[in-house]
Amino acid sequence: MCPMEKIRTASFNDTFKFNLFHIIPYFLRGIFTRSRFWSVLFDFIHPDPMAVKFCQIIRAKYQTGYISTYLFKNRSLLVFDYDGIKHVLDNSPFIYADPDLKRMGMSHFQPNALTISRGEEWKDRRRFNESVLDSDTQVHGNADFFHKIILAEIKGLLNQERRYLVWEDFDRLFKRITLRIIFGEAPQTETELTERLERMMRESNRVFLLGKSKDFNEFYRAIRARLTNPEPGSLSARCSHAPSSSVTRVENQVTHWMFAMMETLATNTLRALALIVAHPRVQERVRIQLARYVALSPSDIISLKYLRGCLQEAMRLWPTTAMLVRLMLTDDQIGGVKVPAGTQVIILNSFLHRDSENQPLADRFSPELWSDTETNYHFNHLSNGTQICAGKNLALFIGGAVLAEFLREPRYRLIRPMLNVSKPLPHAFNEFLIKLERVPMY
Ligand code: HEM
Repeated sequence: MCPMEKIRTASFNDTFKFNLFHIIPYFLRGIFTRSRFWSVLFDFIHPDPMAVKFCQIIRAKYQTGYISTYLFKNRSLLVFDYDGIKHVLDNSPFIYADPDLKRMGMSHFQPNALTISRGEEWKDRRRFNESVLDSDTQVHGNADFFHKIILAEIKGLLNQERRYLVWEDFDRLFKRITLRIIFGEAPQTETELTERLERMMRESNRVFLLGKSKDFNEFYRAIRARLTNPEPGSLSARCSHAPSSSVTRVENQVTHWMFAMMETLATNTLRALALIVAHPRVQERVRIQLARYVALSPSDIISLKYLRGCLQEAMRLWPTTAMLVRLMLTDDQIGGVKVPAGTQVIILNSFLHRDSENQPLADRFSPELWSDTETNYHFNHLSNGTQICAGKNLALFIGGAVLAEFLREPRYRLIRPMLNVSKPLPHAFNEFLIKLERVPMY
């Protein structure tokens, strides 16, 4: 194909279908925090919830990995091509930066957060985030402290001898783990901080006509108070030792850590647990590996690569970040063609991760996919390139430690939603509906 023909423009009809059947449901499900009502409804009634069939059809029709369309009124380029994806992610955020809708919505609860920063501000905040989160190392410098918190919180939950595990248990568990890892001790009754954040996130789902939240001042007053008196071992305690300046805006970075560690990590970890117990062979392999340890240390958790692969797979199969969207700040060449500044670029994780025409294992739970490398630009649930998730290693550690603990002792079986593992895995798996039952040990 001539490079000039690489970008093709979608017809009005296809653009209309894309917006009506995929973009509107995507917004209604909740961009910053999931709406239980809309996500359950769409998972139930939507025939192609991840746009897999739709994208396969338009790719075949236009014979290209670059399709120009509109996302509402914004000219947008859908990039399916591996080299194109890599180019965009390797040049974020300097050419490919945060789009207006994300900036507007996120500024409501975390203005100045790294993920909506650009240029020199981004460099400053990235340096700070990497230093506190120990982004380059798999075992965080404070991993011992974090691990003890995780063990204590899970023990508290399991001691209650509860027969069933549902979303609400994981939601509560991860809120407590989050508060303690970020700030240190958190009283059992502590819910005000997380409730304020959740309310702001729910408001921000609206994106438009957002006035200042009535929770904003109180929330940040509480964050600042905690940052002035941090508990040793917590992430807050590292903040004063990390490189920062007047543009860093530490309190807004902390809010993003809460945002990502609570709902997002809880969802992915619960889905991974459900997948493991629904796949007997995977479960046995994980349990055999776990049985080698009397007590696990943080480095043991990191060495459990297969278990880590299980968590990666839950994220790949049902990516909590369904799409990465970037706004082009300057003209650039994509797919051999000059694309003008102001164009939005869309990397549709929900489609690319389940593209069975290019990925033979697309619809299978395949933890071994991650045994050789954890960097694959086809799969961007934790993003890749310069703006890769700064909390990737920490998230994999916390999620891995939680999974290890749930799989060491009790046994669970998945009651709902049913997963038929001999068939391709469904394109939606709603965490709000997950129910696991504790079964006696053999
Ligand atoms: C399973 C859990 C998580 C998932 C799936 C996830 C996913 C992502 C994704 C997809 C991005 C890129 C977003 C974009 O460019 O549009 C991102 C960025 C980021 N994540 Fe995570 N994340 C997780 C957990 C965490 C945790 C626990 C932290 C911190 C404690 C964290 C900190 C960050 C930061 C600071 C960025 C912005 C990076 C930048 O713009 O340079 N994430 N994450």
